Amino acid sequence: MDAGNDGPDTTCSSTPEAVTMVSLQTDLFDPKCKSCHYKGTGGAADGTGYAYGDYETAAQTYEMVGKASLYNKMGATTLKIVDSDTTRSTAQRLAASTLWLKCASTKSMGFKGPNNEITGATMPQNATMLTAAELQKIKDWICRGAPMN
Ligand code: HEC
Repeated sequence: MDAGNDGPDTTCSSTPEAVTMVSLQTDLFDPKCKSCHYKGTGGAADGTGYAYGDYETAAQTYEMVGKASLYNKMGATTLKIVDSDTTRSTAQRLAASTLWLKCASTKSMGFKGPNNEITGATMPQNATMLTAAELQKIKDWICRGAPMN
């Protein structure tokens, strides 16, 4: 198992595209993620990635913004799924967002977090890595503070 810890790209574009939660839902989460990240009928957690985020609608997907990642070390909350704390630098936010760490890695495992946290498998799990254009959208969105609209 490789560590995948060459260090993620944490440099924002000086002119990030106007990506929103709503546009990302249509362009990315609907086609490539919600096949696993969904809540089953009757409240059963039968989407394999469900505990790690429900991506069925933009409103549900948006719940990952500011939410502590399940990959935090015991007791810690610094690693987020999407770090939207704009008092921190964009580089710090990208480095502490598992959405970015797990999608941007070209290895089987996501990049590690700022405190050397393991972040599990690269996403989308067991599927083709996202394209450069898709990765740029995720990055631009986090760089802009992860807005809904
Ligand atoms: C084939 C099923 C599958 C697909 C498709 C999939 N995921 Fe996952 N996802 C999982 C599973 C299982 C986990 C928990 C295990 C892990 O992290 O390795 C997970 C965990 C995650 C986490 C970790 C959340 C946390 O608490 O830090 C993120 C972020 C994530 N996925 C994002 C995505 C994104 C974005 C996509 C689409 C580009 C995607 N996933 C597609 C199954 C999937």
